[in-house]
Amino acid sequence: MHSYSGLAKDHFFNPRNVGALDGEAFIGRAGSFTCGAVVRVSLRIDESQRIAEAACEALLSAITDYSNSVRDEWEGDEALICTCFCVSERTIEREIETKGLRTIAEVTKACRAGAGCHSCYSLIEDILDDHRRSQGIANPAYR
Ligand code: FES
Repeated sequence: MHSYSGLAKDHFFNPRNVGALDGEAFIGRAGSFTCGAVVRVSLRIDESQRIAEAACEALLSAITDYSNSVRDEWEGDEALICTCFCVSERTIEREIETKGLRTIAEVTKACRAGAGCHSCYSLIEDILDDHRRSQGIANPAYR
């Protein structure tokens, strides 16, 4: 951490405005399926409509929590491959078979599997490989 300025180090070790404001505050949330983070900002506005107080918290494992929650409540009798978009193994197989898909990008376009955090990419790739083997397709360009 020696390349950071003293100010950056101070804020790293002693972060300010972290967490949520107590009492009445405006709350805003934003999340990203791509990086898996969720950010919550709370603001207290004074009588002159200026921000009097602010706090922010990042929930970096939000996508992991969400994925585990979806998996726990998944009621389908098929394997759940993409937790971001609740896409089952059978749905992906059906899309590959009926549309002749050859790449993860094509699978994503067809059924949204893989369009979020990308953690299901290796599973989609395995399904594409299985399909390729079952069809005797050699040397695929699956990526
Ligand atoms: S599990 Fe996140 S994109 Fe598929």
